[in-house]
Amino acid sequence: MGRRELYLTEMGLGPVWRLRSAPAQAAEGVRGEALGWNELKSRVAACTACELHSTRTRTVFGVGDENADWLFVGEAPGADEDAQGEPFVGQAGKLLDNMLKSIGLKRGENVYIANVLKCRPPGNRNPLPAEVAKCEPYLRRQVELIRPKLIVSLGKFAAQTLLGQDATIASLRGSVHAYQGIPLIVTYHPAYLLRTLPDKAKAWEDLCLAKQTMQDLCSENSATI
Ligand code: URA
Repeated sequence: MGRRELYLTEMGLGPVWRLRSAPAQAAEGVRGEALGWNELKSRVAACTACELHSTRTRTVFGVGDENADWLFVGEAPGADEDAQGEPFVGQAGKLLDNMLKSIGLKRGENVYIANVLKCRPPGNRNPLPAEVAKCEPYLRRQVELIRPKLIVSLGKFAAQTLLGQDATIASLRGSVHAYQGIPLIVTYHPAYLLRTLPDKAKAWEDLCLAKQTMQDLCSENSATI
């Protein structure tokens, strides 16, 4: 099985033919070389790989410290993000900033924020599998470039995409998973938490698990030096 097929299968995105219909390696140069930050940003800004390009105002690449230990991954830009070109700038973004603050983090400081999709689905509908298949190489390359110590996925869609599992948030919470060998913790999407206040307590537990996991990772690293 080739690398492309393998990754699609890992992603749980269904039959291999889906991947074969994807554009030439979205996050690679003409000779198959992996793109650097600038090339990747330009590639995303100019992307027309799926129909979302025709309805977007701006692409939303991601924001923050490109050497961050923490990577937070959401679903897709909404209206505010589409207008401003930055992830999580609306009401859900304000809550995300507060979630970060609750564990001593701040947007842009050792934290990077990205989405699975770089363009807004019209009316904020769920992303389609074909859109994910075409956009996911960009996120994958972002992860390779950032090399975060820990990923926190926000909401069911990001968790299912990164883990390649059709599972509920409830069943994925409370464990440390992995994406590309990087520990990954699942929590609720801030937009969901705005509508479902009782689950904020569970999100707090997830953030505590994330903080503890990061502390453990850092002490493991310092023990091996
Ligand atoms: N929801 C997301 O998943 N991402 C954003 O950037 C904004 C809202």
